[in-house]
Amino acid sequence: MITIVGAGRVGISAAIHIALKELDDITLIDIVEGLPQGEALDLSHMCGILGIDVDIRGSNDYKDMAGSDIVVIPAGFIRKADMTRMDLLFKNYEVIKQVSERVKEYAPNSKVIIVTNPLDVMTYVAYKVTGFERNRVIGFSGPLDTGRFKTLIKRELGVSYKSMDVPIIGEHGETMVLLPRHTYVCGKPLTELLPKEKIDKIVEETRKMGAQVIKLKGWSASHAPGAGVAIMVESIVKDQKRVIPTSVYLQGEYGVSDVCLVVPAVLGRNGVENIIELPLNDEEKNAFMKSAETVKNAIAQLKL
Ligand code: 2OP
Repeated sequence: MITIVGAGRVGISAAIHIALKELDDITLIDIVEGLPQGEALDLSHMCGILGIDVDIRGSNDYKDMAGSDIVVIPAGFIRKADMTRMDLLFKNYEVIKQVSERVKEYAPNSKVIIVTNPLDVMTYVAYKVTGFERNRVIGFSGPLDTGRFKTLIKRELGVSYKSMDVPIIGEHGETMVLLPRHTYVCGKPLTELLPKEKIDKIVEETRKMGAQVIKLKGWSASHAPGAGVAIMVESIVKDQKRVIPTSVYLQGEYGVSDVCLVVPAVLGRNGVENIIELPLNDEEKNAFMKSAETVKNAIAQLKL
């Protein structure tokens, strides 16, 4: 069973994609009475129409996550157009702390996927509060940011998404580190396919894409995050061992410790099964260190 805590737009989008992939039965949990039950009914009808044999139920009781293999957590406050992800720090800390305590109690053997912002800090909070091994507490954002970068590469080069290999490291935030030197299209690095000015421009555009979505549609992205979460869940459930950029507690990888940041990770049955270390040049290393410093500073403001 897969539990999703938070039946807002991102949670429901994740549920849709997980159901469409027929990965497992789904339990939606939310504190708002009626909301998860109503969404579960609606989604069950969707499954009925499509002939998808997945059971979906809604609940206001955390106990109903018992027995979950994976708990996805998009619960919390979302940012408005004039906010950075870090502006949500204290409010979402309380939410993630509380939910993590429940996960520890009711789903002690689960793998946890955090979706709430500020993503890397919230992943750290969940890691500390649950006390689970680091491979079982991971943060979602990588497929979202690389997905955004891919749309811009496609716009520039007119090649299929399927022919791109796009890594990302660092913070899911203002200091995210895209790696054009390690971004490959049909075996060629992006740095040989586009001029530097163009690359700098689309990197910057990618960084601002989350805020741009909020500005245009009035609320935070949901379709893309839901699809991305399902890719991570799929890799774990089917033990695919795909390399997916994932926020995870680092213990010396990339030269940093005691912080969660996005790195390329092999996702399989046990959650993070390996971390791939890319050879970084000084510029890339400095950018990653800036991410580490930003997330560590935020963590230091919390009572953990
Ligand atoms: C995004 O990048 C809000 O972090 C979310 O769209």
